[in-house]
Amino acid sequence: MSRGLFIVVEGLDRTGKSTQCAQLLNHFTASGRKVTLMKFPDRTTNIGQMINSYLQSKTELNDHAIHLLFSANRWELSQHIVDTLNGGTTIIADRYAYSGVAYSVAKGLNYNYCKNPDKGLPKPDKVFFLDLPPLLAQQREDYGEERYESLEIQTRVRSAFVQLLQDNQYIHKLDVTRQSIESVHQALKQELTPLLESSQEPLRHTLFM
Ligand code: TYD
Ligand code: MG
Repeated sequence: MSRGLFIVVEGLDRTGKSTQCAQLLNHFTASGRKVTLMKFPDRTTNIGQMINSYLQSKTELNDHAIHLLFSANRWELSQHIVDTLNGGTTIIADRYAYSGVAYSVAKGLNYNYCKNPDKGLPKPDKVFFLDLPPLLAQQREDYGEERYESLEIQTRVRSAFVQLLQDNQYIHKLDVTRQSIESVHQALKQELTPLLESSQEPLRHTLFM
């Protein structure tokens, strides 16, 4: 049995990540592939509940402390990721460590410091960055309810993502400006085709090495 694929969808708030993850889930399910969705932060765990409370501004936390909690939230699920993939199930993840770096760098934390706690996590087979100008994302529904959802912060988050794109050439940037849900879905599927047709390399645990 071949292992599942680890696919990550990244982007600023309100760029359509969750919608695209759901579409990919439906597509893979319909084509008979075992597939599951993960979302980071995973707000259901104890650590996730602390993160949730912070995002809703119900608690305050030191910038470094919350950065490490986001990373810890990935680490507490890392064995589950490995087992799921090795069990032949594909994972579609709505955000991962790239958001972890970008959002904390946007607050002024050091770039290399931010990458450190996530070093060694399972490495995705494919990472997409859905790129939309922050000004356009801001005009979308429900914007501005949680911490970080301001134009000023999102603009800085995007700059940090640009640096991540430069340093991690395997991240695939997709400009979703003026694109329909369906056309973005088609583009993602097309980009995934070669991966789906090839046999998988052994899982790597080398994120940000
Ligand atoms: P988000 O994924 O936007 O959830 P929802 O779809 O429910 O709005 O919320 C997570 C927020 O946390 C988002 O602003 C990005 C931020 N974030 C970090 O700061 N660090 C991280 O490591 C992750 C995964 C997310
Ligand atoms: Mg959000």
